[in-house]
Amino acid sequence: MMRHSKKRLMTACMLAGVLMLGACTDTPPVTKEVSIVPAINQLEETSNAFVLKSNTTIGVTDNTLTPAAEYLAQLLSPATGYTIRVKEGEGTITLSLGNVEGKEGAYTLTAASDGVNITGNSYGGVIAGIESLRQLFPPQIESKEKVKGTDWAIPTVNIQDAPRFEWRGIMLDASRHFYTKDEVKGLLDVMALYKMNKFHWHLTDDQGWRIEIKKYPLLTEKGAWRKFNSHDRECIRQSKVNDNPDMAIPEDKIRVVEGDTLYGGYYTQEDIKEVIAYATTRGIDIVPEIDMPGHMLAAVSNYQGVSCFDETGWGSVFSSPVCPGKDSALEFCKNVYAELIDLFPYKYVHIGGDEVEKTNWKKCPDCQKRMRDNNLKTEEELQSWFIHDMEKFFNEKGKEMIGWDEIIEGGLSKTATVMWWRSWVKDAADKATAQGNSVVFTPNGQFYLDYAEDKNSMANIYNLEPGKGMTPEQQALIMGVQGNIWCEWIPSNARMQYMAVPRLLAIAELGWSDPSQKDWDAFKQRFAGQFERLNIMGVNYRIPDLEGFNSVNAFIGEGNVSITCPDPTAEIHYTTDGSTPTLQSPRYDAPIQVTETTDFTFCTFRPSGKRGDMVKTRFIKSEYTPAVTAAPSNPGLKATWHEFKGNKCGEIEKAPINGSYSVEDVMIPKKVKGNIGLIIKGYFNAPQDDIYTFALLSDDGSILTIEGEQVINNDGPHGPREIVGQKALAKGYHPMEVRYFDQNGGQLKLKVTGSDGKEIPFTHLYAH
Ligand code: ACM
Ligand code: ZN
Repeated sequence: MMRHSKKRLMTACMLAGVLMLGACTDTPPVTKEVSIVPAINQLEETSNAFVLKSNTTIGVTDNTLTPAAEYLAQLLSPATGYTIRVKEGEGTITLSLGNVEGKEGAYTLTAASDGVNITGNSYGGVIAGIESLRQLFPPQIESKEKVKGTDWAIPTVNIQDAPRFEWRGIMLDASRHFYTKDEVKGLLDVMALYKMNKFHWHLTDDQGWRIEIKKYPLLTEKGAWRKFNSHDRECIRQSKVNDNPDMAIPEDKIRVVEGDTLYGGYYTQEDIKEVIAYATTRGIDIVPEIDMPGHMLAAVSNYQGVSCFDETGWGSVFSSPVCPGKDSALEFCKNVYAELIDLFPYKYVHIGGDEVEKTNWKKCPDCQKRMRDNNLKTEEELQSWFIHDMEKFFNEKGKEMIGWDEIIEGGLSKTATVMWWRSWVKDAADKATAQGNSVVFTPNGQFYLDYAEDKNSMANIYNLEPGKGMTPEQQALIMGVQGNIWCEWIPSNARMQYMAVPRLLAIAELGWSDPSQKDWDAFKQRFAGQFERLNIMGVNYRIPDLEGFNSVNAFIGEGNVSITCPDPTAEIHYTTDGSTPTLQSPRYDAPIQVTETTDFTFCTFRPSGKRGDMVKTRFIKSEYTPAVTAAPSNPGLKATWHEFKGNKCGEIEKAPINGSYSVEDVMIPKKVKGNIGLIIKGYFNAPQDDIYTFALLSDDGSILTIEGEQVINNDGPHGPREIVGQKALAKGYHPMEVRYFDQNGGQLKLKVTGSDGKEIPFTHLYAH
């Protein structure tokens, strides 16, 4: 059966149709959906099927590809139950190196009825081809046990694919909580599946030193273990109040020493070698980070001559840093990195360089002498001097340096690569690339995977365009994108996977796929197709937010509760009495009619029975609230700025007033900076009797009140988060108030739509 009479090129995103396989083979037809993440560049679909058989072999035409072949054999063997042999030369599946157009990692994949050929322009390209092949198979291929009754058939295809960016990374903070080498390998497995190729391993921080350094054994003997700190206690508290075992401190990382309960762990150098080998097989380079000169508590508290003063601990915000004035400190840092450099084969090392508290440097005679001797005017320049000195050392050892974007301050060397993380320092990437330095994009607003996820998080990553507005020369210096898993609030491997996946898929696609492929709806369909695979792999991903309702919903007469879940494998259960839904609670599988105000609690469950997030939503039986009779006369809204340092909107007016402003919209007035508590008052002009939907986005907290009734509660400290509520309003003016607080560069935006889904332009008024 020829489905296409002539060859046609199509993108992988278009191939989400139903394929009838098997018509040209002995096997009965099977129906299968093809869904590949990240989207591949070009796919020519032919009309046949390749079927994996018990005598399938994997051949390598180049010996360096043997680990890739063995990796593929390991992927395909357990579920099929076949013992797939790896051989030199051609096999049923043949892996080769060749000239494939595109950046490092490009590959071609040809699947015909009699065999599969994968050619990469590098080892990483062959791995990328293997990952596409893997996703052509049914998700059951991921099973670790033999699956009966499945045809291991894939559609015949010609794929040409290449990455957009050379750097598609994930950073794991193994300091704040420790992840064993096997847990790290689990993350590498997920990264590999989605063609991610850089693993940035944050190995040290104030809360734990995680890598054995033979010259300085106390770093791990003492620095890898701690008594429970405030983060640990909060995680334990949350695990109890939310009945969430993933927030508990894992038992296997606790030990009792002389009556003290200590928590932690570290990697021996042998563990590190094992993880590097595992990553290398999967085409992943590891970038180690020993963060300095700040975040070095284990070093400064266990070794003399590393910090400015013998007294170490915490300054006003961050810990005591290394003393760049002392030669002994520099020698210490270099000795540590020397061992690291001997261990890690990849050309990059990450110096950290973030969040350095410089108060000690101002007081330290050695630091001040270093500044005088080198004509350095500020402590920022001293930080730069230190970073440059370390970079020289790295370069002598054949390595290149990456650092967090603070390394720009005080002068950047020509050769360092900058990891842009501070979303609020908007020009950091622009500045670095304008100077000719390479940049990896990891702005915290989108790419910090420890931040709470909401319904917009995936799209916010997916729709980011690195380098927008830059010159082509600057754009060429963007190496790629990276998601960062900071782990202060992530105590377990299960929680780590929950926070990282599925956002990791959006980062992978942003990093790999050509921008011409960008299509959010198509991506949404494709990533939905991944959940079955992830379930079989046992990945504890987060089920994306349910859709189709707001936190507050209004209806007139009879309401219709119609919800959808982006994860087709999830089950939805609900209660209306405020209790937590279980698998025994009513199951949602069709819209529900409501005639009275009803509070719903919905919970999603993965096929394993594991509970996902719980959401509460209120459906309010309403009448149109009448408008005020006298129309207010002043255009705009009135914003009052309070010097507010708290974290609850309800307390803003207790803080002293800094000023008052007229604003045309719900926004942070230009002059308002620093400690912000805003109370914005005025009237919303409803163009007709209607149910209005209010979407309030803020970083940090906000609250919207209309006609004295709270419509949106987006309060508390948090990153950018949108909450949506509704209210039925009669035509005319309605008093409204928005409260908002933030300290340090936030966001505030209110969007209003009518029941036709159209945005209402702002014609607010105030009456003072
Ligand atoms: C960072 O988040 N401090 C790089
Ligand atoms: Zn000093």
